[in-house]
Amino acid sequence: MKAYPFSYFPPVPDNYNRSLPIKQKRDHLNDALFSNDAAFDWLYPENFQLLSLKHWTPLAIACKAAEFLAEPGARVLDIGSGIGKFCLAAGHHFPETFFYGVEQRHELIYLAEQAKGYTKLSNVNFIYANITQINFKEFDHFYFYNSFYENIDPENQIDDTIELSESLYTYYNQYLCAALDEKPSGTRLVTFHSFEKEIPPGFKLADISCNGLMKMWIKT
Ligand SMILES: C[S@@+](CC[C@H](N)C(=O)[O-])C[C@H]1O[C@@H](n2cnc3c(N)ncnc32)[C@H](O)[C@@H]1O
Repeated sequence: MKAYPFSYFPPVPDNYNRSLPIKQKRDHLNDALFSNDAAFDWLYPENFQLLSLKHWTPLAIACKAAEFLAEPGARVLDIGSGIGKFCLAAGHHFPETFFYGVEQRHELIYLAEQAKGYTKLSNVNFIYANITQINFKEFDHFYFYNSFYENIDPENQIDDTIELSESLYTYYNQYLCAALDEKPSGTRLVTFHSFEKEIPPGFKLADISCNGLMKMWIKT
């Protein structure tokens, strides 16, 4: 595993107020970091910044999705969390909600943990696992950015470690659909770019945004 030097992270801005208490300084730094996608993506190595447009949730979308999912004390799971962009943005804007990301690629978990370390967000956690290893009972609400599409998309691969397989794609969708089907009424789900194969009939559309790309669902 490649280790990224600490100097990789953004330098302290010139107008940084050194007299502020540490917590306030951190909040100011995070406000700047979460103010636009380029600033946030700069936390990561260049090749992962370049993947941002296609693979990581834009900050504005993450904030809107999190607004629907957040409630004090609730545990929200990002199903396929990548470099952690959704969880970190959501955790920054909604400090009383706990955001978890499950991710199958170790390198992405490593980068997500590094970024978490930089932001010092204590309400965000990452789990290195396949979604089939997750106990869905431990989570209240869910975010899903079409994570399984990579199994049938030869054009936009994150890397070459994942098998292209129609049957794996179908299996994951069915697995997630069954797991969501067992959740109690009131469970919330936000999908982004989804073909809706993973959504059980019990989930009803509550809102729609971003020209139909983002959908908010509640289990009845
Ligand atoms: C489109 S990216 C979204 C990343 C993140 N949710 C975001 O919005 O920025 C989908 C991620 O899901 C992960 N993924 C796909 N299938 C998975 C599985 N079966 N278990 C765990 N992670 C998976 C991929 O490795 C990829 O990082």
